[in-house]
Amino acid sequence: MCGIVGYTGAHEAAPVLVAGLRRLEYRGYDSAGLATLDRDRLTVRKRAGRVRALEELLESESAPGRCGISHTRWATHGPANDRNAHPHLGGRGGAIRVAVVHNGVIENHAALRRELESQGFEFHSQTDTEVIAHLIARELETTDDLFEAVQRAMPRLEGTYGLGVISPSRPGEVVGARFGSPLVVGLGEGEHLLASDPVAIAPHTAQVAFLQDGEVVRLTPHDFEMRHLEHGPITPRIDRLDWKPDAVELGGHAHYMIKEIREQPETIVNTCRGRLRRSEATAVFGGLNLSPRQLRRVRRVVFAACGTSWHAALVGEYLIERLADLPVEVEYASEFRYRNAPLDDRTLVFVLSQSGETADTLGALREAKRRGHPTLAIVNTVGSTIAREADGGIYLHAGPEVGVASTKAFSAQVAVLTLLALYLGRLRHLSFPDGLAVIDAIEQVPALLGEVLKTEPLIEEAAGRIASAHSALYLGRDLHYPVALEGALKLKEISYIHAEGYPTAEMKHGPIALVDRHTPCIFVVPRGSLHAKTLSNLEEVRARDGLVISVGTEDDQAVAGLSQVFLPIPEAPEVVQPLLAVVPLQLLAYHVARQRGCDIDKPRNLAKSVTVE
Ligand code: G6P
Repeated sequence: MCGIVGYTGAHEAAPVLVAGLRRLEYRGYDSAGLATLDRDRLTVRKRAGRVRALEELLESESAPGRCGISHTRWATHGPANDRNAHPHLGGRGGAIRVAVVHNGVIENHAALRRELESQGFEFHSQTDTEVIAHLIARELETTDDLFEAVQRAMPRLEGTYGLGVISPSRPGEVVGARFGSPLVVGLGEGEHLLASDPVAIAPHTAQVAFLQDGEVVRLTPHDFEMRHLEHGPITPRIDRLDWKPDAVELGGHAHYMIKEIREQPETIVNTCRGRLRRSEATAVFGGLNLSPRQLRRVRRVVFAACGTSWHAALVGEYLIERLADLPVEVEYASEFRYRNAPLDDRTLVFVLSQSGETADTLGALREAKRRGHPTLAIVNTVGSTIAREADGGIYLHAGPEVGVASTKAFSAQVAVLTLLALYLGRLRHLSFPDGLAVIDAIEQVPALLGEVLKTEPLIEEAAGRIASAHSALYLGRDLHYPVALEGALKLKEISYIHAEGYPTAEMKHGPIALVDRHTPCIFVVPRGSLHAKTLSNLEEVRARDGLVISVGTEDDQAVAGLSQVFLPIPEAPEVVQPLLAVVPLQLLAYHVARQRGCDIDKPRNLAKSVTVE
């Protein structure tokens, strides 16, 4: 999705802005641009395509000045071309009063466009953003205060926006405004930054202030001022990013995705740190904001999420039903928010989101809140909108995830859900020894993941066998069914091979029609309660000349004997097997995509964080 970076300070702005855009590339975009101010001289440079294309343009046509705004666009209104790229300019009669970058969607743009056109404002793009630039410019005809002009224009906008604005009449000043699209201010030494994602500004400062809906900020190199449109001046809360300085660097890895796959042992340690209590054989969470008594009253849990987070929630369903004997339903957030899902007053609603900004998941959270339900969130990004709006929740502590294909966040979500299942179980019937067994199992995971990662060369070789396939089936049962879904999603996201996940036994009710020697079937079948029942499914694929690739327990001769490719994971208790079994599937997708020459960290058409419906 679109990205915003703004800067005002002692350094030249363009290099800072471009470096910031580079760090946002992972979010997915199709054009890039910037505007700088050198005293009152405004320079705009923009290009369809990659940030690299913008950099090339800047090599021949510079953009001087120590203040500026920049943007990566993910097209919604109008195709990806130079003209529709941001920034957009506002003003009439030849006067250029303002440059604007915008994330979000302005729903009443058509009516505003007609109004502005009738007043002599000319439009040069097909975007909804241009109306914002002209609205602010119109206000700047009667005030020279940009901060004031933005506030006067905001009430006219219906929809969502994160804005970065500069004006030749206010050198050295960047104004930001938020309604529905994230925006954060970075507080540096003699410089201030604005961004849609803290990743963009993390190398400059760890001190940040997140804007809330309806808030507007004025930045100069040494000052910043914040107001709420209705409530007036506000003192912002300053948060500290607890990221390592290299958290958003590649650090010698070829791609963010592989870096994040390999980080998973450490991720699990960070996610579980301080959350296991052996003395009571349970887990502890600081921010649930619900007492054990309130939680014991819960009769049903609903998870709402999208994409990979939805798959993690499905693992949570199996775990919570198994350990806590509580009915769980997993909903697509986009469906849940508009569906008339019956929820009684003993239903607990959880949303899961890596980014904490996914529009559909936020919509689901707001709908549940509106209906008076306690809402909890499992989120990675500290200070994100979902984290702030939920009544309580659990942070993943997975660090920033940059690869568009989510990997370590999935594992962190599954780890949190395992702890949650343990906690809810121990509030109900799960015995002390059974609780301790879960703790023992979780504590082994980081070391076992280290073992799985060592099998990467084997997986790289296996990738060669499916790199030219047109379609693949992923099959798993029980806890491994969601793992199969996630494996299939990883493959399609980054290698563009069509892949479907199914519960293994469901294969015979349709998907088996697809099986031939060109269709790899990837079975997730570690040793466990339904293991024996899966063997016959492997046989069925073999009998139809299909290619069987399986992820199984390392010494499992039965599965290995039925598979053309056997990817081993170490022996482990069933409740933690999903955390191990997903890793070979992540690595498989990665190596298939690599062999097919795909752009792994920037897969086509996808965005890391989908902030539109
Ligand atoms: C997008 C991403 C997926 C992600 C989903 C949910 O579609 O491409 O990788 O799983 O959003 O994101 P969230 O940040 O809410 O977990």
